[in-house]
Amino acid sequence: MQREQAQFGVLGMGVMGQSLALNVADQGVRVAVWDIEPKRFEDLKQKGAPPSLHGHAALEDFVAALERPRRILMMVTAGAPVDSVMGRLEPLLQPGDIVIDGGNSWFQDTRRREAAWKQKGLQFMGMGVSGGEEGARHGPSLMPGGPTEAYSLVRPVLEAIAAKRDGSPCVTHVGPDGAGHFVKMVHNGIEYADMQLLAETYDLLRRGLGLSADALADLFTQWNQGIAESFLLETTIQVLRKKDPDTGTPLVEQVLDKAGQKGTGKWTVQVGLDLGVALPSIAGALDARNLSSLKDERVAASGVLAGPSGESLSAEEKAHLAAWVHDALYAARVATYAQGLRLIQAASREYKWSVPLAELARIWRAGCIIRAQLLTPLREAYTQQPDLANLMLAGNMAPVLAKLAPAWRKTVGVATRLGIPTPVFSASLAYFDSYRSAELPQNLTQAQRDAFGAHTYQRRDRPDAGFVHSDWS
Ligand code: 6PG
Repeated sequence: MQREQAQFGVLGMGVMGQSLALNVADQGVRVAVWDIEPKRFEDLKQKGAPPSLHGHAALEDFVAALERPRRILMMVTAGAPVDSVMGRLEPLLQPGDIVIDGGNSWFQDTRRREAAWKQKGLQFMGMGVSGGEEGARHGPSLMPGGPTEAYSLVRPVLEAIAAKRDGSPCVTHVGPDGAGHFVKMVHNGIEYADMQLLAETYDLLRRGLGLSADALADLFTQWNQGIAESFLLETTIQVLRKKDPDTGTPLVEQVLDKAGQKGTGKWTVQVGLDLGVALPSIAGALDARNLSSLKDERVAASGVLAGPSGESLSAEEKAHLAAWVHDALYAARVATYAQGLRLIQAASREYKWSVPLAELARIWRAGCIIRAQLLTPLREAYTQQPDLANLMLAGNMAPVLAKLAPAWRKTVGVATRLGIPTPVFSASLAYFDSYRSAELPQNLTQAQRDAFGAHTYQRRDRPDAGFVHSDWS
């Protein structure tokens, strides 16, 4: 008897592909899967794949098994493998078929691929998938971009597999061509900064107050009941509680302090430079990872470069530091999201994507790595003012920042005095202070440029005079 055609295909059976295929099958959808290594289908069986999920050793058979228009989710490593799989798929597909790239692809590649396939009558979508293996299996946050028509055809499946929050699925059509991958890239940039803020929090309270991993986990558990609540804080608590089976000490203390990265944080900063959008918190987090990788140099430098000596916390600082850092964490997180969302706004204008920011806040509230309590007021802010210039200006953010700013300053002040690096707390505070400054010292910068290079400047008192040059000698 001939098997019924599959309704959805998943290609690439790495951890994420497998989890998503199982998630789709759980929704009662007939799924076809393919991988270059058919032995990976065995893993799927062991993970309880239902009979409605069928593996195909040959790509031709996989494609032929799908009902039309075909809907294929491709979960392969970003970069050349995506082009290579697309090259193999292309002759097997027919007009109207849809392929979704669910990897962390460079958005300009996605734009190129979508445009090239459009010429051939094929529909290509780039989709951000967040939430790691667990999210993929039980409910990720999905950020699809691409043709509206293609989205409407894949929407029922995406809505079924996505995380749910207040009954609504964490998926929305982010925009055309590369919008989905762009938004996921910025999600990851924010993720870098938020992770670094938590690392700085850990460092300040560990070195500043001498708190143990368990004491920190207890403190963070309290924090996680209030405004600081986030998935990354929850993960931090889980990490701090874990003991090394060999030594019985906190496992985190056995982890070498050199951070890795796969590139999305770097891309975010690069695009920020290209579009002229300041992202000091995300850049600070990226630099923190880069500096961490210089372990040998840092060890050598620690014996050469002196830090503050004899500095200790006052009784007042000891009593309040944890509360200050808590407030600084929330404030700096707001500044970080503000930067990321501004970058999305700038790209949305540049590429005419019309990315709905309130919708992004909605789909980031569950399933993804940066989900946090903050997303609820953030969503309200963009619902009320879709073209809000900066999140920090929102009616439900500006007063909160004003209230938290003194603690933010105390946090950065204590860290500076103790010589504990807090690049993202500091950069976020400088972003806040720069943005709220009616006067900045770039009058001097302009004067210097004109003095040494005749680059000209504008006068405050004669705005209509345009650019003028002075002899500064
Ligand atoms: C997610 C994550 C995921 C991953 C990134 C960043 O949303 O599920 O962002 O995509 O964490 O690949 O990884 P690096 O820290 O290695 O750059």
